[in-house]
Amino acid sequence: MLQTTRPRRLRRTPALRRLVRETILTVDDLIYPMFVMEGKNTREEVPSMPGAYRYTLDLLLKEIAEVAALGVNAIALFPAVPPEKKDDLGSESYNPEGLIQQTVRAIKQATPDILVITDVALDPFTTHGHDGLVDQNGIILNDPTIEVLVKMSLSQAAAGTDIVAPSDMMDGRIGAIRLALDEQGYEHVAILAYSAKYASAYYGPFRDALGSAPKSGDKKTYQMDPANSREALKEIYLDIAEGADIVMVKPALAYLDIIAKVKAETDLPVAAYNVSGEYAMIRAAAQMGWIDEKKVILETLTSMKRAGADMILTYFAKEVALILSTVDRS
Ligand code: PBG
Repeated sequence: MLQTTRPRRLRRTPALRRLVRETILTVDDLIYPMFVMEGKNTREEVPSMPGAYRYTLDLLLKEIAEVAALGVNAIALFPAVPPEKKDDLGSESYNPEGLIQQTVRAIKQATPDILVITDVALDPFTTHGHDGLVDQNGIILNDPTIEVLVKMSLSQAAAGTDIVAPSDMMDGRIGAIRLALDEQGYEHVAILAYSAKYASAYYGPFRDALGSAPKSGDKKTYQMDPANSREALKEIYLDIAEGADIVMVKPALAYLDIIAKVKAETDLPVAAYNVSGEYAMIRAAAQMGWIDEKKVILETLTSMKRAGADMILTYFAKEVALILSTVDRS
Protein backbone atom coordinates (compact mmCIF):
# COMPACT_ATOMS: atom_id res chain seq x y z
CA MET A 1 0.00 0.00 0.00
CA LEU A 2 1.28 3.42 -0.94
CA GLN A 3 1.52 5.48 2.20
CA THR A 4 2.31 9.16 1.77
CA THR A 5 1.23 10.40 5.18
CA ARG A 6 3.41 9.02 7.91
CA PRO A 7 2.85 10.82 11.23
CA ARG A 8 5.76 8.88 12.74
CA ARG A 9 8.20 10.93 10.59
CA LEU A 10 7.83 13.85 12.98
CA ARG A 11 8.21 11.68 16.05
CA ARG A 12 11.55 10.21 15.00
CA THR A 13 13.96 12.24 17.13
CA PRO A 14 13.78 14.43 20.25
CA ALA A 15 14.55 17.51 18.14
CA LEU A 16 11.69 16.78 15.75
CA ARG A 17 9.32 16.19 18.62
CA ARG A 18 10.33 19.44 20.26
CA LEU A 19 9.86 21.25 16.93
CA VAL A 20 6.23 20.18 16.56
CA ARG A 21 5.26 20.18 20.23
CA GLU A 22 2.00 22.11 20.63
CA THR A 23 1.86 22.62 24.37
CA ILE A 24 4.72 23.59 26.66
CA LEU A 25 4.20 23.73 30.39
CA THR A 26 6.30 26.49 31.96
CA VAL A 27 6.84 27.78 35.45
CA ASP A 28 4.95 30.94 34.45
CA ASP A 29 1.76 28.87 34.26
CA LEU A 30 1.88 27.82 37.90
CA ILE A 31 0.08 29.18 40.93
CA TYR A 32 1.06 27.59 44.25
CA PRO A 33 -1.82 27.19 46.76
CA MET A 34 -0.49 27.43 50.32
CA PHE A 35 -2.00 26.87 53.76
CA VAL A 36 -1.09 29.27 56.56
CA MET A 37 -1.73 28.77 60.29
CA GLU A 38 -1.12 30.71 63.49
CA GLY A 39 2.01 30.22 65.60
CA LYS A 40 5.75 30.18 65.08
CA ASN A 41 8.38 28.00 63.51
CA THR A 42 6.04 25.10 62.72
CA ARG A 43 4.87 23.25 59.69
CA GLU A 44 2.41 20.38 59.72
CA GLU A 45 2.06 17.95 56.87
CA VAL A 46 -1.53 17.46 55.74
CA PRO A 47 -2.09 13.71 56.25
CA SER A 48 -4.16 13.26 53.09
CA MET A 49 -1.78 15.48 51.07
CA PRO A 50 1.75 14.09 51.56
CA GLY A 51 4.27 16.80 50.71
CA ALA A 52 1.82 19.67 51.36
CA TYR A 53 2.01 21.58 54.61
CA ARG A 54 0.29 24.11 56.81
CA TYR A 55 2.94 26.72 57.62
CA THR A 56 3.20 29.33 60.31
CA LEU A 57 3.88 32.73 58.81
CA ASP A 58 7.66 32.71 59.41
CA LEU A 59 8.09 29.37 57.64
CA LEU A 60 5.60 30.34 54.94
CA LEU A 61 7.79 33.32 54.08
CA LYS A 62 10.79 31.00 53.73
CA GLU A 63 8.88 28.63 51.48
CA ILE A 64 7.70 31.56 49.35
CA ALA A 65 11.25 32.84 48.99
CA GLU A 66 12.29 29.36 47.83
CA VAL A 67 9.57 28.99 45.24
CA ALA A 68 10.11 32.56 44.03
CA ALA A 69 13.77 31.67 43.47
CA LEU A 70 12.58 28.74 41.35
CA GLY A 71 10.58 31.16 39.22
CA VAL A 72 7.07 30.64 40.62
CA ASN A 73 5.16 33.90 40.08
CA ALA A 74 2.05 33.52 42.14
CA ILE A 75 0.70 31.94 45.30
CA ALA A 76 -2.88 31.43 46.48
CA LEU A 77 -3.40 31.67 50.24
CA PHE A 78 -5.78 29.68 52.42
CA PRO A 79 -6.01 30.12 56.20
CA ALA A 80 -6.31 27.35 58.80
CA VAL A 81 -8.38 29.29 61.32
CA PRO A 82 -8.37 27.99 64.92
CA PRO A 83 -11.84 26.79 66.03
CA GLU A 84 -12.12 29.49 68.73
CA LYS A 85 -11.95 32.18 66.05
CA LYS A 86 -14.76 30.70 63.99
CA ASP A 87 -18.37 31.78 64.36
CA ASP A 88 -21.64 31.34 62.48
CA LEU A 89 -21.13 34.58 60.57
CA GLY A 90 -17.48 34.14 59.57
CA SER A 91 -16.63 37.53 61.09
CA GLU A 92 -12.95 36.71 61.42
CA SER A 93 -12.79 36.78 57.61
CA TYR A 94 -12.69 40.58 57.53
CA ASN A 95 -10.67 41.23 60.69
CA PRO A 96 -7.98 43.73 59.57
CA GLU A 97 -5.59 41.92 61.95
CA GLY A 98 -6.72 38.45 60.87
CA LEU A 99 -4.32 35.70 59.83
CA ILE A 100 -4.76 36.27 56.10
CA GLN A 101 -4.49 40.05 56.34
CA GLN A 102 -1.29 39.81 58.42
CA THR A 103 0.10 37.19 56.08
CA VAL A 104 -0.52 39.29 52.97
CA ARG A 105 1.18 42.32 54.54
CA ALA A 106 4.19 40.25 55.57
CA ILE A 107 4.57 38.66 52.14
CA LYS A 108 4.33 42.03 50.42
CA GLN A 109 7.16 43.28 52.65
CA ALA A 110 9.38 40.25 52.28
CA THR A 111 8.81 39.28 48.62
CA PRO A 112 6.93 42.17 46.98
CA ASP A 113 7.17 40.79 43.45
CA ILE A 114 5.36 37.52 43.94
CA LEU A 115 1.65 37.78 43.14
CA VAL A 116 -0.62 37.16 46.09
CA ILE A 117 -4.05 35.68 45.44
CA THR A 118 -6.47 35.57 48.37
CA ASP A 119 -9.49 33.32 48.59
CA VAL A 120 -12.86 34.93 49.21
CA ALA A 121 -15.31 32.51 50.85
CA LEU A 122 -16.52 31.95 54.38
CA ASP A 123 -15.90 28.24 54.89
CA PRO A 124 -12.54 28.45 56.72
CA PHE A 125 -14.11 31.00 59.10
CA THR A 126 -17.52 29.51 59.89
CA THR A 127 -18.35 26.97 62.61
CA HIS A 128 -20.73 25.21 60.18
CA GLY A 129 -18.15 25.02 57.39
CA HIS A 130 -20.34 26.48 54.65
CA ASP A 131 -19.16 29.13 52.21
CA GLY A 132 -22.10 31.35 53.09
CA LEU A 133 -24.36 32.33 55.95
CA VAL A 134 -26.88 29.67 56.97
CA ASP A 135 -30.40 30.31 58.27
CA GLN A 136 -32.21 28.24 60.92
CA ASN A 137 -33.53 25.87 58.25
CA GLY A 138 -30.08 25.17 56.86
CA ILE A 139 -30.61 27.36 53.78
CA ILE A 140 -27.48 29.13 52.49
CA LEU A 141 -28.38 32.81 52.22
CA ASN A 142 -27.14 34.44 49.04
CA ASP A 143 -27.36 38.21 49.36
CA PRO A 144 -26.48 38.51 53.06
CA THR A 145 -23.40 36.37 52.31
CA ILE A 146 -22.34 38.78 49.57
CA GLU A 147 -22.21 41.61 52.12
CA VAL A 148 -19.66 39.64 54.13
CA LEU A 149 -17.69 38.66 51.02
CA VAL A 150 -17.45 42.34 50.08
CA LYS A 151 -16.04 43.21 53.52
CA MET A 152 -13.61 40.33 53.25
CA SER A 153 -12.42 41.42 49.79
CA LEU A 154 -11.93 45.01 50.94
CA SER A 155 -9.90 43.92 53.96
CA GLN A 156 -7.70 41.75 51.72
CA ALA A 157 -7.27 44.64 49.28
CA ALA A 158 -6.32 46.94 52.17
CA ALA A 159 -3.70 44.39 53.23
CA GLY A 160 -2.18 44.53 49.74
CA THR A 161 -3.45 41.47 47.89
CA ASP A 162 -3.01 41.53 44.11
CA ILE A 163 -5.93 39.32 43.19
CA VAL A 164 -9.08 38.36 45.09
CA ALA A 165 -10.52 34.97 44.21
CA PRO A 166 -14.15 34.40 45.20
CA SER A 167 -14.62 30.63 45.55
CA ASP A 168 -18.04 30.69 47.21
CA MET A 169 -20.42 30.39 44.22
CA MET A 170 -23.01 32.88 45.51
CA ASP A 171 -24.92 34.53 42.66
CA GLY A 172 -23.89 38.10 41.90
CA ARG A 173 -20.82 38.29 44.09
CA ILE A 174 -18.36 39.25 41.35
CA GLY A 175 -20.31 42.41 40.48
CA ALA A 176 -20.73 43.41 44.11
CA ILE A 177 -17.05 42.90 44.89
CA ARG A 178 -15.91 44.77 41.75
CA LEU A 179 -18.13 47.73 42.58
CA ALA A 180 -16.94 47.91 46.18
CA LEU A 181 -13.26 47.59 45.24
CA ASP A 182 -13.59 50.37 42.67
CA GLU A 183 -15.46 52.65 45.07
CA GLN A 184 -12.75 52.24 47.68
CA GLY A 185 -9.87 52.99 45.32
CA TYR A 186 -8.84 49.38 44.68
CA GLU A 187 -9.54 49.41 40.96
CA HIS A 188 -6.09 47.83 40.41
CA VAL A 189 -7.01 44.70 42.38
CA ALA A 190 -8.00 41.93 39.94
CA ILE A 191 -10.71 39.32 40.36
CA LEU A 192 -10.04 35.67 39.62
CA ALA A 193 -13.55 34.20 39.64
CA TYR A 194 -14.12 30.58 40.57
CA SER A 195 -16.82 30.64 37.90
CA ALA A 196 -17.47 27.00 37.14
CA LYS A 197 -16.88 25.41 40.50
CA TYR A 198 -18.41 21.99 40.90
CA ALA A 199 -19.76 20.25 44.03
CA SER A 200 -16.89 17.79 43.91
CA ALA A 201 -15.72 14.94 46.11
CA TYR A 202 -12.18 15.86 45.05
CA TYR A 203 -12.05 18.63 47.68
CA GLY A 204 -11.84 16.20 50.62
CA PRO A 205 -8.12 16.56 51.43
CA PHE A 206 -8.35 20.38 51.26
CA ARG A 207 -11.12 20.31 53.86
CA ASP A 208 -8.85 18.12 56.03
CA ALA A 209 -6.10 20.71 55.66
CA LEU A 210 -8.30 23.55 56.91
CA GLY A 211 -10.74 21.64 59.12
CA SER A 212 -13.44 23.19 56.95
CA ALA A 213 -15.67 20.25 56.01
CA PRO A 214 -19.35 21.22 56.31
CA LYS A 215 -20.76 20.06 59.67
CA SER A 216 -24.12 19.31 58.08
CA GLY A 217 -25.51 19.09 54.59
CA ASP A 218 -23.44 19.50 51.46
CA LYS A 219 -22.58 22.28 49.03
CA LYS A 220 -24.89 21.20 46.22
CA THR A 221 -27.22 24.20 46.48
CA TYR A 222 -24.39 26.55 45.51
CA GLN A 223 -21.64 24.57 43.78
CA MET A 224 -22.42 23.11 40.36
CA ASP A 225 -23.69 19.65 39.52
CA PRO A 226 -20.80 17.59 38.04
CA ALA A 227 -23.21 16.36 35.38
CA ASN A 228 -23.62 19.82 33.83
CA SER A 229 -21.65 21.46 31.07
CA ARG A 230 -23.77 24.19 29.43
CA GLU A 231 -24.43 25.60 32.88
CA ALA A 232 -20.70 26.28 33.20
CA LEU A 233 -20.96 28.72 30.31
CA LYS A 234 -23.88 30.45 31.97
CA GLU A 235 -21.74 30.98 35.08
CA ILE A 236 -18.80 32.16 32.99
CA TYR A 237 -20.87 34.71 31.05
CA LEU A 238 -22.33 36.08 34.28
CA ASP A 239 -18.92 36.50 35.89
CA ILE A 240 -17.53 38.17 32.77
CA ALA A 241 -20.48 40.56 32.65
CA GLU A 242 -19.95 41.36 36.32
CA GLY A 243 -16.28 42.23 35.84
CA ALA A 244 -14.15 39.11 36.33
CA ASP A 245 -10.58 39.46 35.01
CA ILE A 246 -9.81 35.72 34.97
CA VAL A 247 -12.29 32.84 35.02
CA MET A 248 -11.64 29.46 36.59
CA VAL A 249 -12.80 25.88 36.18
CA LYS A 250 -12.51 23.66 39.24
CA PRO A 251 -11.67 20.81 39.62
CA ALA A 252 -9.50 20.35 36.55
CA LEU A 253 -8.73 16.73 35.73
CA ALA A 254 -12.28 15.39 35.57
CA TYR A 255 -13.40 18.63 33.87
CA LEU A 256 -11.03 19.00 30.93
CA ASP A 257 -14.05 19.20 28.60
CA ILE A 258 -15.31 22.21 30.57
CA ILE A 259 -11.91 23.91 30.38
CA ALA A 260 -11.90 23.45 26.59
CA LYS A 261 -15.43 24.76 26.26
CA VAL A 262 -14.79 27.80 28.41
CA LYS A 263 -11.59 28.58 26.51
CA ALA A 264 -13.52 28.59 23.23
CA GLU A 265 -16.09 31.03 24.63
CA THR A 266 -14.00 33.76 26.20
CA ASP A 267 -10.97 35.88 25.49
CA LEU A 268 -10.28 36.20 29.22
CA PRO A 269 -7.45 34.14 30.69
CA VAL A 270 -8.71 30.76 31.90
CA ALA A 271 -7.45 29.20 35.13
CA ALA A 272 -7.76 25.55 36.15
CA TYR A 273 -7.52 24.23 39.72
CA ASN A 274 -5.68 20.93 40.04
CA VAL A 275 -7.41 20.30 43.37
CA SER A 276 -6.40 18.47 46.52
CA GLY A 277 -8.01 15.13 45.61
CA GLU A 278 -6.24 15.10 42.25
CA TYR A 279 -2.98 15.75 44.07
CA ALA A 280 -3.68 13.04 46.66
CA MET A 281 -4.42 10.40 44.02
CA ILE A 282 -1.08 10.91 42.29
CA ARG A 283 0.85 10.97 45.57
CA ALA A 284 -0.89 7.83 46.80
CA ALA A 285 -0.27 5.82 43.64
CA ALA A 286 3.34 7.00 43.60
CA GLN A 287 3.84 5.97 47.22
CA MET A 288 2.63 2.51 46.29
CA GLY A 289 5.22 2.46 43.52
CA TRP A 290 2.48 2.07 40.90
CA ILE A 291 3.20 5.10 38.72
CA ASP A 292 6.18 7.23 37.72
CA GLU A 293 5.27 10.27 39.80
CA LYS A 294 7.20 13.00 38.00
CA LYS A 295 6.01 11.90 34.57
CA VAL A 296 2.41 11.62 35.70
CA ILE A 297 2.54 15.10 37.26
CA LEU A 298 3.87 16.64 34.05
CA GLU A 299 1.46 14.73 31.83
CA THR A 300 -1.49 15.73 34.00
CA LEU A 301 -0.65 19.42 34.10
CA THR A 302 0.19 19.46 30.39
CA SER A 303 -3.25 17.99 29.67
CA MET A 304 -4.85 20.90 31.52
CA LYS A 305 -2.87 23.40 29.51
CA ARG A 306 -3.63 21.53 26.28
CA ALA A 307 -7.34 21.68 27.16
CA GLY A 308 -7.07 25.46 27.32
CA ALA A 309 -5.89 26.49 30.79
CA ASP A 310 -3.66 29.57 30.74
CA MET A 311 -2.69 29.03 34.36
CA ILE A 312 -2.94 26.15 36.82
CA LEU A 313 -3.30 26.20 40.58
CA THR A 314 -1.40 23.16 41.76
CA TYR A 315 0.07 21.86 45.00
CA PHE A 316 2.79 20.40 42.77
CA ALA A 317 4.00 23.89 41.79
CA LYS A 318 7.29 23.77 43.68
CA GLU A 319 8.06 20.27 42.52
CA VAL A 320 7.20 21.13 38.91
CA ALA A 321 9.36 24.25 39.02
CA LEU A 322 12.23 22.00 40.15
CA ILE A 323 11.52 19.37 37.52
CA LEU A 324 11.23 21.93 34.73
CA SER A 325 14.61 23.39 35.58
CA THR A 326 16.27 20.02 35.04
CA VAL A 327 13.92 18.08 32.80
CA ASP A 328 14.76 15.92 29.82
CA ARG A 329 12.18 17.08 27.32
CA SER A 330 12.49 14.25 24.82
C1 PBG B 1 -13.76 26.70 49.55
C2 PBG B 1 -12.69 26.13 48.72
C3 PBG B 1 -12.53 24.76 48.51
C4 PBG B 1 -11.39 24.62 47.74
C5 PBG B 1 -10.87 25.89 47.48
N1 PBG B 1 -11.71 26.82 48.10
C6 PBG B 1 -13.28 23.60 49.04
C7 PBG B 1 -14.73 23.59 49.04
O1 PBG B 1 -15.40 24.24 48.23
O2 PBG B 1 -15.26 22.89 49.90
C8 PBG B 1 -10.85 23.29 47.32
C9 PBG B 1 -9.47 23.23 46.81
C10 PBG B 1 -8.90 21.87 46.73
O3 PBG B 1 -9.58 20.83 46.93
O4 PBG B 1 -7.70 21.79 46.48
N2 PBG B 1 -14.23 27.94 49.31
